[in-house]
Amino acid sequence: MQSSELETNKIRKDFPILTRKINGKPFVYLDNASTTQKPLSVINKIVDYYSLYNSNIHRAVYDIAEEATNAYELTRKKVCKFINANSPQEIIFTRNATEAINLVSYSWGRQNIKKGDLIILSEQEHHSNIVPWQILAKEKNAEIKYLKIDETGNLNLNELEFYLNNHNNAKLISLCHMSNALGNIIPIKKIIDLAHTYNIPVFVDGAQSVPHLTTDVTSLDCDFLAFSAHKMLGPTGVGILYGKKKILEEMDPFLCGGDMIKEVHKENTFFNDLPYKFEAGTPNIADVIGFSSALDYLNEIGMDHIRNHEIELTKYAIEKMSELKQMKLYGDINLQNRGGIISFNLGDIHPHDLATILNEHAIAIRSGHHCAQVLMEKLDVSATSRISFYIYNTKEEINIFINALGEAIRLFQL
Ligand code: ALA
Repeated sequence: MQSSELETNKIRKDFPILTRKINGKPFVYLDNASTTQKPLSVINKIVDYYSLYNSNIHRAVYDIAEEATNAYELTRKKVCKFINANSPQEIIFTRNATEAINLVSYSWGRQNIKKGDLIILSEQEHHSNIVPWQILAKEKNAEIKYLKIDETGNLNLNELEFYLNNHNNAKLISLCHMSNALGNIIPIKKIIDLAHTYNIPVFVDGAQSVPHLTTDVTSLDCDFLAFSAHKMLGPTGVGILYGKKKILEEMDPFLCGGDMIKEVHKENTFFNDLPYKFEAGTPNIADVIGFSSALDYLNEIGMDHIRNHEIELTKYAIEKMSELKQMKLYGDINLQNRGGIISFNLGDIHPHDLATILNEHAIAIRSGHHCAQVLMEKLDVSATSRISFYIYNTKEEINIFINALGEAIRLFQL
C-alpha cells in the first residue's frame, strides 16, 4: 500500500458514514459536488455547542453567551485566514452560496445596475449564478451576455475582451471558478485582471473551487466570492460571502431586523458596521461553529494534498472510464484544467436509470441537469451522470464503480 493510500484510509476512519453498508455492500459516496460527508470532529463540535453553551450571540453578558459569541467569531477569523482576506469584516455568513449571490444581486445590483447595463455570465453557470441576475436584469432593463464555451467546456476569453471593448456599459462579470457539472476550472485570475483594466468588478462563484483549490482572494483580487460550508466537510445552512470592504461598506443591507442595526428610532435606523450589517436576525450559530472544525480538518490535511489526491483519482477514473466504448465523457481532457468532477453518459442509458442501477451497488452519484440547464442545452443533452470526489475517496471505490458500469452495459445490452 502506498503512503497516500495509507493516509486516505486514516482519513476515512474520521467519517462515520463511510462505514455504512447499503444492501449489504460497502457504501461508495461519489456525489461530493452535491455535498460532502462530515468528520466526527465537526459533528462533535455541533453537539458540544448544544450540550454545553447553547445561547444566542452578540446580545448577552453571561458566560455561555460569551463562549458562543467567541466561537462564532472565531470561525469568521478562520474563514478570513483560509481565503486570505484582509479582515474578518469582509466575511459575511449567509445560509448558502446561493444566498450570498442573492445578497449581492439584491443589494449591490439594485444600487449599481441601470437600464441598458450589461452583466456577463457564462454558459456553464449554476442556476444560482443565473436566476438572481436575470431577475435583476428584468427589473432594471439590463442585459445579460453568456460567454460561450467550446466542446471541452472552456471559455473563449476573446469574446470577453470583445464585450469589454465594445460595451461601455458592462457593469459586472459573475463566473464560477469551477463548473459544478463539468469540473472545468477557468483562468479566473486572468479574467479578473482583464476586467479590472476596464474597472469592472468580478463576482466569483467558488462553491466548487474553494473546497478543492487553495483560494487567495488578496492575490486573486476578486471583488466578491461566494461558497458553502457543506461542500467542504462543514454543516449545511452556512454560506460565506467575501466582499472587498470598501464595496461592502457602500452597499445597503439585504435582510433587515435585529443585529444589523446600531440604533432604531420611530422614523429612521442606523445600520451596524460590517459584517453585522448583512447578518440580520439570529444566525445559524451551531453550524457556523461546527464549520470551524471543518476548516481545521482541511488545514491539517492541506489544500495542496487535497488537490493532488483529486487529480490522481480523476486521472485514474478517466482512464478506466475511457476503456468503455459506450462512454461519452464531458469536460476538459487536461487534468490541470479540471477538478475532481466527471460528467458522462453511458450509451443511451438515461442518467436516472444508471443512477438507480448504481444505487443497487451502494454507489451514490448524481444524475440530471445539475442545476445547469443552460449548459445542458449547449451540450445538447437533457441530463448527464456525474461522479465527484473528495479527500476520502479511493481507487478501490473507482474500481467498484467501473464494475457496476460494466453490469449496466450488460443489463442494457449495449
Ligand atoms: N450545486 C450542487 C451540485 O452541483 C447541489 O450538485
